[in-house]
Amino acid sequence: MSRHVLIIGGTSGLGKQLAILYATEGCQVGVTGRRGNLLQELLQQFPDNIHICQSDITDKDISGKIMELIQAMNGIDILIITASMVELNQEPGHISDTDTISTNVTGFTRIIAATWQYFLTKGKGHIVGVTSIAAARGNKNAPAYHASKSFQSAYLESLRIKAKHDKKGITVTELIPGYMDTAMGKGGRIFWMASVEKAARQSKKAIDGKRARAFITKRWWLAYHVQRLLPAFIYDRLMNGRWKLKQKN
Ligand SMILES: NC(=O)c1ccc[n+]([C@@H]2O[C@H](COP(=O)([O-])OP(=O)(O)OC[C@H]3O[C@@H](n4cnc5c(N)ncnc54)[C@H](OP(=O)(O)O)[C@@H]3O)[C@@H](O)[C@H]2O)c1
Repeated sequence: MSRHVLIIGGTSGLGKQLAILYATEGCQVGVTGRRGNLLQELLQQFPDNIHICQSDITDKDISGKIMELIQAMNGIDILIITASMVELNQEPGHISDTDTISTNVTGFTRIIAATWQYFLTKGKGHIVGVTSIAAARGNKNAPAYHASKSFQSAYLESLRIKAKHDKKGITVTELIPGYMDTAMGKGGRIFWMASVEKAARQSKKAIDGKRARAFITKRWWLAYHVQRLLPAFIYDRLMNGRWKLKQKN
């Protein structure tokens, strides 16, 4: 039976590529994002499979909009939330900190909470959140982003444990990307940079396998765990180092 998949933040990058993979497989795919022209492009590409809703996850009424889309799709089996923002090299207190928290923390939590209630009523469902290797530790270049990804990661882990304990039929998956060649990845680093196609293939496999956590790509497991183990005096020096990642030509 074809599945119904809702992707929050599917106008570009990993979300868009996942929308294409699921639509190609014959699933019904709901896609949201702020850029209406990109949503229309996807709809034209897969008119029988794609359902769109132009929306901003920082909108206070976002839960209502998402529920309307879920109804229009005749229900969903899987929620994938990829929408996030990052601003580099801003001083603490910059307006982008507030925007990052509104998007990556408040919007993220509102959508997951609304879908959690929907899946509880339905008796089953799968919630997938896309966090980041940035969840592992702090970083001076994007403090609010790292903190927000750490929040997302802990929130998903908490819900995963709650879902198992309460036995309500809800599965929770955390996808943890390293660098991906997308607009957000800035395209400037080649250190273990994955193409968005490869990242989406590995992500879909992890989702379809109902994995609890998956590193995208797999090798980022090592970088994540090494970072977590480093004592502060080594980690701080490493992060303050003058070395730069090699730029693409
Ligand atoms: N790229 C990387 O190297 C990398 C590394 C680690 C983790 N990640 C994570 O991977 C996920 C996907 O990122 P990506 O690289 O695919 O980035 P991307 O191409 O910039 O895609 C981000 C998506 O989020 C949507 N979005 C952002 N703010 C939104 C808002 N306020 N309301 C609704 N939608 C919003 C964007 O749509 P609109 O602009 O149309 O609203 C877009 O569809 C993110 O959670 C990111 O943190 C990325």
